[in-house]
Amino acid sequence: MTLMTISTDLMSRAKAILAANDRGGYTVPTHGLYPFQWNWDSAFVAMGFATYDIDRALSELERLAEGQWDNGMIPHIVFHAPADSYFPGPEVWGTHHRIATSGITQPPVFAIALKFIAERADASFAPRIRALFQVADRYHRWFAEARDPAGTGLVSTLHNWETGRDNSPEWDGPFARVPETTTTVIRRRDTGHVDAAMRPTDAEYRRYIHLVDMYRDLGWQPSRMLSATPFRVADIGTNAILLAAENALLSLAPAYGTQGLEPAIEARIGRLSRGLAGLWHEEKGWFLSRDLITGKPIPVRTSAGLLPLLTGIPTPAQVRQMQAVATAHLDSVAFGMASTLPTEVGFEPRRYWRGPVWAIMNWMIAEGFARHGCPGAAERIRTDTVASISRHGFGEYFDPTTGASLGGEAFSWTAAIYLLLSGNDE
Ligand code: GLC
Repeated sequence: MTLMTISTDLMSRAKAILAANDRGGYTVPTHGLYPFQWNWDSAFVAMGFATYDIDRALSELERLAEGQWDNGMIPHIVFHAPADSYFPGPEVWGTHHRIATSGITQPPVFAIALKFIAERADASFAPRIRALFQVADRYHRWFAEARDPAGTGLVSTLHNWETGRDNSPEWDGPFARVPETTTTVIRRRDTGHVDAAMRPTDAEYRRYIHLVDMYRDLGWQPSRMLSATPFRVADIGTNAILLAAENALLSLAPAYGTQGLEPAIEARIGRLSRGLAGLWHEEKGWFLSRDLITGKPIPVRTSAGLLPLLTGIPTPAQVRQMQAVATAHLDSVAFGMASTLPTEVGFEPRRYWRGPVWAIMNWMIAEGFARHGCPGAAERIRTDTVASISRHGFGEYFDPTTGASLGGEAFSWTAAIYLLLSGNDE
């Protein structure tokens, strides 16, 4: 039995949000607060579009691919058109691509979205999917070469913004090593749009910009960034998503790849699989990120620790443990999954990635539990997501203690996830 009630009114509202946030073949996360194209936001948005408009879904990825650097990196922001409501803008990043972009990446959901679209597309779209396959392959090669040159099986993340989970308590320790000094004058724009209590603090912002200043001064060269940075982590989210994305790419290869690519993809999958399996922490019963400067696991359980469920890596015993903790957690809050488990010291229910529920995380975690034969856990997470949206709207994120919508409003990826969840009733 499903308790999930999808409403056709809300489906229309979700489509209207995507249409309103369309800036010409790409979508901004929300009007005002985020006026450009964001990497992983667009991947989720593309999947949302794919439920009713394959052409538009592909153009979302194509516009993102315009920002792909010659070395293969897809940046976390593509500044297609000027806007002064966001800091730091292109002048602070100082990158040298044909279009202005940031200089760091985000979790590579891209190939997962491409597979999702390809499964729903007719043959007329094949040439566009083939071109995007190459984009994804170059992106994944960049991760391997630039972020794991030693072949350890774990890719490094060099900025909180790259994790997509900016102020997760996981980063508190590594981030404390980053000085608060900046050469750039900080002009925050975010707190003019939403309540400062729901956003990162000023001290956190100074550190974010310290890293940007440092990498810009290093000419955005991956090897120099890797050796100079005080912030280098193996983010459990990025590593799990990358492995899932490599698997998606491999499955697309026969139909959309060029001949002979598979062995290289399989080799990357082999390395990443070993790396990801090593992030399981037996005592905590959870997958944890690792601080790559100290070499130690970061002992904070976040919802990202469930993302390895998107891959075949977790053993049945590990899945059982994760399911037990996730279920206990769902019983303890009004709406799950909190981004940081409420029993962790760093939990703050309203502050961004320190506690709030994010629809995209819920969608991925539910997919993961379903894949590993836990339909009950998947269903509860989907039901909570739909319930929060139905009662409180398409916010950026939600308070797990009340379900209330927080941060920006009319958010593209929340709308996209609603559309994806509505497909689960079929
Ligand atoms: C915030 C989020 C990040 C997201 C971006 C745009 O920076 O932390 O994950 O991509 O906003 O929505």
